[in-house]
Amino acid sequence: MGFSFALRVITAFLSTRQIAAQLIGKEQTEVHPKLQWKRCTGKGGNSCSNVAGELVIDANWRWLHAKDGYSNCYDGNKWNTTLCPDNKKCTANCALEGEDYSKTYGITAGSNALTLKFVTKGQYSTNIGSRVYLMKDASNYEIFKLIGNEFTFDVDLSQLPCGLNGALYFVSMPQKDMELRVRSYCDAQCARDLKYINGETNSEGWEPSSNDANAGVGRKGACCAEMDIWEANSISTALTPHSCQPEGYSVCTDTGCGGTYLLDRYAGTCDANGCDFNPFRVGVTDFYGKGMTVDTSKPFTVVTQFLGSGANLQEIKRFYVQNNVVIANPEPTIPGIFGNSLTQDWCDREKEVFQEEYGEGHGDGTGACMSLWDDHYANMLWLDSNYPTDADPSKPGVARGSCDVGSGVPADVESQNANAQVTFSNVKFGPVGSTFAQSGGT
Ligand SMILES: *[C@@H]1O[C@H](CO)[C@@H](O)[C@H](O)[C@H]1NC(C)=O
Repeated sequence: MGFSFALRVITAFLSTRQIAAQLIGKEQTEVHPKLQWKRCTGKGGNSCSNVAGELVIDANWRWLHAKDGYSNCYDGNKWNTTLCPDNKKCTANCALEGEDYSKTYGITAGSNALTLKFVTKGQYSTNIGSRVYLMKDASNYEIFKLIGNEFTFDVDLSQLPCGLNGALYFVSMPQKDMELRVRSYCDAQCARDLKYINGETNSEGWEPSSNDANAGVGRKGACCAEMDIWEANSISTALTPHSCQPEGYSVCTDTGCGGTYLLDRYAGTCDANGCDFNPFRVGVTDFYGKGMTVDTSKPFTVVTQFLGSGANLQEIKRFYVQNNVVIANPEPTIPGIFGNSLTQDWCDREKEVFQEEYGEGHGDGTGACMSLWDDHYANMLWLDSNYPTDADPSKPGVARGSCDVGSGVPADVESQNANAQVTFSNVKFGPVGSTFAQSGGT
């Protein structure tokens, strides 16, 4: 049995989307940071050519104001009820503004490297984290077909402590969004903290977060399959495909959404937990970290291969390269889980050993997102500490990293680790074997 892994045709769900009617603010001209990457052919990383890409920030981070003035439509974690009595009126009354990426968000890109800074004090507000998408040109996202190919990048997360997550991942996304400001983000948690869903505001029924001054959840959520090739800090890392039914973009409402936002994580149609390969969690506690086999105090290369053909993903393999040495993903050491790559079989065993629920297939993603975030729901403990926190850490699957169970509280990391940052660079994409010289690793 292979992964049941449907390769979605992007246009199939593009056509089901309503024509968005959101408005674009004119106060600040938008200049997208440029990020060059390489498309590879042939073998061993020797035949790669430069591709000029650019980046766009997610709508959630943007200034949203009255279309004919400066009143905030959304301020802190609340909507202005005069401008936003319901989703339709709010969509008609409010405009999303262009942004200065480095000054406001701490996002800088230079030639082939992108740096996301954690806390950025701007003129009007303090920004926390960011989420950007790789684009082909000013108005189209870059779409990656993963199966049969490999995606490679360098990462420096030496300045990313417990509680933070510098992520590079894929979600099914429409190729185009209106002027690229109201990106129809979606993920396998059925994201409900989005200000816009499918071109309309999510202001109705919005509940401001109790512990996040900038966020809340609306009644609607946006679901789609998610391929998390990289969720990591300097302590822990996880490679996690999440499936959804349907795999493409779909909108859920209230308790039907499941995911992060509800006690019943499994109420929705997505696999909220996914099938994660975290070396620490499968027993290899000395593989990834500062001074370890993959030494996170220095930059390194992350290779992810999607073996299979057509719509059938058979296996996901991971390699690291550091100091010109190819490092294979480690073999699990806890009883009952075998193999250093993800297959359906591996995922089934993990589920059995960790006694967890998750969905059937595993999702392919197509649009590339890079983000830096802290976690107002679970303090990132699912990545880098013991989780659930009240479970016995000696029970398989509970220990995921060496961070303290009291770490990762957003108020603490935002004040103590404001200067944290992650840098992604040297992105390469091409057929399996084309982006790096594999000799030495298995
Ligand atoms: C809400 O918007 C209205 C209309 O622009 C404005 O007069 C009012 O001051 C705003 N309220 C808040 C709390 O910002």
